[in-house]
Amino acid sequence: MELPDCVLELGDQLQKGDAIAPDPDLFEAYEVFSAEVSNIFVKPWLAVDHASRLAVDGDYFRADVGPRSVVIVRESEDQIHALRNACLHAGYRVCEEESGRTNRLFCQYHAWYYALDGRLTEPNLRPDIKDRSRYRLPRYAMKIDRGLILIDPSAVAPEPPPAGPVDLGAIPADLGERKVSRRQRHKATVNWKPLRQHLLNAPELVFGGGGCETVVELGALSFVAVNDDEAALVRMIPRYPGQTELDVVHLPAPGREGQASSTDNIAEMLREEGDDIADAPLSRDFYDWYWSKMAPPAEAAD
Ligand code: FES
Repeated sequence: MELPDCVLELGDQLQKGDAIAPDPDLFEAYEVFSAEVSNIFVKPWLAVDHASRLAVDGDYFRADVGPRSVVIVRESEDQIHALRNACLHAGYRVCEEESGRTNRLFCQYHAWYYALDGRLTEPNLRPDIKDRSRYRLPRYAMKIDRGLILIDPSAVAPEPPPAGPVDLGAIPADLGERKVSRRQRHKATVNWKPLRQHLLNAPELVFGGGGCETVVELGALSFVAVNDDEAALVRMIPRYPGQTELDVVHLPAPGREGQASSTDNIAEMLREEGDDIADAPLSRDFYDWYWSKMAPPAEAAD
């Protein structure tokens, strides 16, 4: 995919060591957003939630990555699938709800039904489809490690591709046993890039501002912030160039539930500082990171 001119100009400025003067299109243009989906958003890994969200067979939730949608569903305790949320008939969603519990997936458009492992079971109005075993929603590479549900949105096939290694660094080893104390979604009318920079510069916001010992980034759009008493999974969900949602999942340390922060400052920060965050200049470090993801491989290596 050809990169938009404003992205190429940015790369040029970086490579010449010039001052960075980003074109507004970098934050507003759909063609930039579309290139970011391909070059950044779908790259591994993405931590989408804590495994306790799928506590019972049939539990599911949706994880959107830009315009793409994934359904994470529990068929049984050891059979958890990350399915492409697109009907095999004409591409409509087989899961519209954000989350729930079900024993099958259903496309409302022409009423095709799927089993929880993605097999087509009832292709309504298509009696000619005899061999249904050939029809299956593609599955993404995924794994559950330290209680985190991790997906690789770049690897999808009828049989789930093997999940490669993921470096979980300082994420607490007991995260899988922890209980979620709060799960919140915030909406921001801010491009994902300044929001990402702001959150990584001030991760203590997820703990109410008290401090943050370390942050482990998982791909471009998710990270785990770790403090003494608690950890928090933060996932950015870019919807449009000027709109980003944030999921924050709080995971207090065992026995420290009462000492964990009872609030975060994110809603307040977005309400009071949203415009300032959107207008804040991005650092050269950020742009270097961004260009390393967006650049054609040969240029990124220069
Ligand atoms: S698009 Fe799903 S049944 Fe037609």
